Amino acid sequence: MELRDGQIVIGSWAEDDAPAVYAACQDREIQRWIPEIPRPYTLEHAREFVNATDGFAIRENGELVGSISLRVTAHNTAGIGYWCAPQARGRGIMTRALRRVCRYALDELAVDRIELTADRDNVASQRVAEKVGFQREGIMRSKHAHPDGHRIDSVLFSLLPGELIEQ
Ligand SMILES: CC(C)(COP(=O)(O)OP(=O)(O)OC[C@H]1O[C@@H](n2cnc3c(N)ncnc32)[C@H](O)[C@@H]1OP(=O)(O)O)[C@@H](O)C(=O)NCCC(=O)NCCS
Repeated sequence: MELRDGQIVIGSWAEDDAPAVYAACQDREIQRWIPEIPRPYTLEHAREFVNATDGFAIRENGELVGSISLRVTAHNTAGIGYWCAPQARGRGIMTRALRRVCRYALDELAVDRIELTADRDNVASQRVAEKVGFQREGIMRSKHAHPDGHRIDSVLFSLLPGELIEQ
């Protein structure tokens, strides 16, 4: 699969993406907001990730700028997760990538619901979700355990057919 939006290309991971994934995942924001990321994050973790993930790489002019996963689960529902490499943030890349992947899931996979969760303090991620049309459903209290020991409240968002905000 390959999805495009201008210079942004969303497609399969390649073995030689591992060093760029390793570099991106040293970022404090990624480690702060994505509790599932192993820490310390090694090159071996990055190699495993690019070989095993069912998600997609986001590239801009051939350079790896982010990751987006899309997992279709029971009841025709999909779950989505993402990170953007630190040097590529603040230029709308994730908004465009999320919009494009949601359009694919709704139109091509015909899913009936897309879910997304974000730490309740992760304002940037919530902003991205809202710009694409996700609706805030509520707070899931004490949803995750962060590796630093504290419990995390998560915001649950969903997007249904007809709600996608096209640019
Ligand atoms: C969240 C993340 C993916 C956003 O990627 P991005 O490409 O920079 O996102 P965009 O540029 O499309 O949009 C970011 C929006 O958040 C806003 N934003 C960014 N930081 C913010 C902050 N600290 N407070 C308020 N708004 C903020 C930006 O202004 C922008 O909104 P705007 O277009 O209305 O101005 C990126 O910051 C990231 O990878 N963070 C670490 C990992 C992570 O949090 N992943 C998501 C887990 S749920």
